[in-house]
Amino acid sequence: MAENEAPTPDFDISRPTIARVYDAILGGKDNFAPDREGAAIYAKHVPAAREVARDNREGLRKGVKYLAEQGIDQFLDIGAGLPTMENTHQVAQAVNPDAKVVYVDNDPIVLAHGRALLATNDNTTVVTADLRDPQSILDHEDVKSMLDFTRPIGLMVVGLHMHFHDDEQPDEWVRVLLDACPSGSYLLITDFVDTGEELQKAIEKAGLESLGNGWIRTPERITEHFLGLPLVPPGLDFVRRWFPGEPDREVPAVEELEPHHRIMMGAIGFKE
Ligand SMILES: C[S@@+](CC[C@H](N)C(=O)[O-])C[C@H]1O[C@@H](n2cnc3c(N)ncnc32)[C@H](O)[C@@H]1O
Repeated sequence: MAENEAPTPDFDISRPTIARVYDAILGGKDNFAPDREGAAIYAKHVPAAREVARDNREGLRKGVKYLAEQGIDQFLDIGAGLPTMENTHQVAQAVNPDAKVVYVDNDPIVLAHGRALLATNDNTTVVTADLRDPQSILDHEDVKSMLDFTRPIGLMVVGLHMHFHDDEQPDEWVRVLLDACPSGSYLLITDFVDTGEELQKAIEKAGLESLGNGWIRTPERITEHFLGLPLVPPGLDFVRRWFPGEPDREVPAVEELEPHHRIMMGAIGFKE
């Protein structure tokens, strides 16, 4: 049972879900015992798992801020997750109060908790839909009424690809969404990387043991997620030392990063 709340019959709380395990790893309260067990498996294999998740959130924050500063005022955030610190609409609307955000997640708990957070924000909505059926996202009434697909969109697939095996061809689902976005749009992605390090293999093991998914990928393979779009400088990097639009910024050498800061990579593609 969640610490602050009675269980809701609509949710299957007997098994962990990605959104709730991630929430538990981040230290949130919207999770149940099996989710906390999942988070404990992550912590067993990667003691700094919370730092990895925080790196990912920081990548999201930096990416959204950069996009908003480029004038992007519409965001389609796929696999949005449960509300936490500095959600997409808060980051974007700090730059432009009129920025619109549609959160999409296939876990209904995100809608339930998101509604409460967003009740007073007319420019933000939460939709329950599945990336594996991308057309259903584009056809969703709330997506169509909130976003104008004749104007540039900030398409976000943050911390999600790892949950799909390459055999499922997740890039093809994203392609459907990207094709619907006009030129001037951006694609923001973070993913687990495989550069041959033990801790990267350990996080994959944790994901497979707790959730049955959570695969790591080479940087070359992550680059393919961008479907040929040119990457905003400095390109793909460990999110810990990634500052989009600031290629000349001094950042630590890769070997100076702690191993747990060498798990999440991020980049932004630009649709010309
Ligand atoms: C690891 S969390 C990442 C949350 C947030 N994007 C972030 O980076 O902090 C992945 C989220 O994707 C959602 N998700 C998993 N499979 C999905 C699918 N097929 N369609 C939409 N969302 C999905 C999960 O429910 C979860 O909330």
